[in-house]
Amino acid sequence: MTETPASPAAGLRDVTVWDPLLRITHWSFPLLIPAMWWTAENSKWALHRQIGLVLLGLLVFRLLWGFLGPETARFSGFVKGPRAVIAYLRGDLAHGIGHSPLGGWSTLVLLGAMLLQVSMGLFAGDPYDGMTGPLNPLVGVMLADTITELHETFFWVVAGLIGLHLAAITFYAVRGDDLLSPMVSGDRPPMAGVAGIGAMPWGRAALAVGLAAGLALWVAYGAPPLT
Ligand code: HEM
Repeated sequence: MTETPASPAAGLRDVTVWDPLLRITHWSFPLLIPAMWWTAENSKWALHRQIGLVLLGLLVFRLLWGFLGPETARFSGFVKGPRAVIAYLRGDLAHGIGHSPLGGWSTLVLLGAMLLQVSMGLFAGDPYDGMTGPLNPLVGVMLADTITELHETFFWVVAGLIGLHLAAITFYAVRGDDLLSPMVSGDRPPMAGVAGIGAMPWGRAALAVGLAAGLALWVAYGAPPLT
């Protein structure tokens, strides 16, 4: 976020808080995670595997975007130490645009849990009985079996975290703090002295999308040696 001297014009315009790629990535989750659950419940394993690889690409993109994206997407912009979180919880710390110190940690936990879940899926399955993840041949049958059980159980941890996430958004909405509209449109009402995230870094976006898609494709082919 860029600090600017308060001016009448800046006071009237909405400020851009979330870039379009962060929003597309975010809204893919409520679409794809229920789809992953449905395909598993209905034994549509080929589709489950394909959507899982798309999710892997999106999550890797989001991690790269945490280093290459605009300020509100960057981990360095929103991951704060315990003191900042406690000060925020006590109401002693106002934050500008982007995640609050608490929201920053919930973002890390949600992304980490989804990445762990998708990663376990890559190794899951039984090669003698149905569909497997693309990296299943890299581990033994016994280990794959353990990972498969963890993958099934951990889904409920991810679901619980999503439930908490939705409860937090609702809690803020009830208090009159609308976090939802900015995650849809990218913009929020003006704040004194805050100019928003500025121009979209499309070159770095292309790099992050390319690297994430390349990694997901490589994994889809079973992570063959690169030489
Ligand atoms: C599968 C379901 C969902 C997952 C896994 C998920 C995950 C996330 C993550 C990781 C972030 C951080 C954004 C980032 O920096 O990349 C986030 C932010 C946000 N999500 Fe979700 N989300 C889900 C569903 C929803 C739904 C259904 C809503 C709306 C009702 C919602 C509203 C928001 C809002 C408003 C923010 C911004 C919070 C802030 O201002 O700090 N999310 N979500």
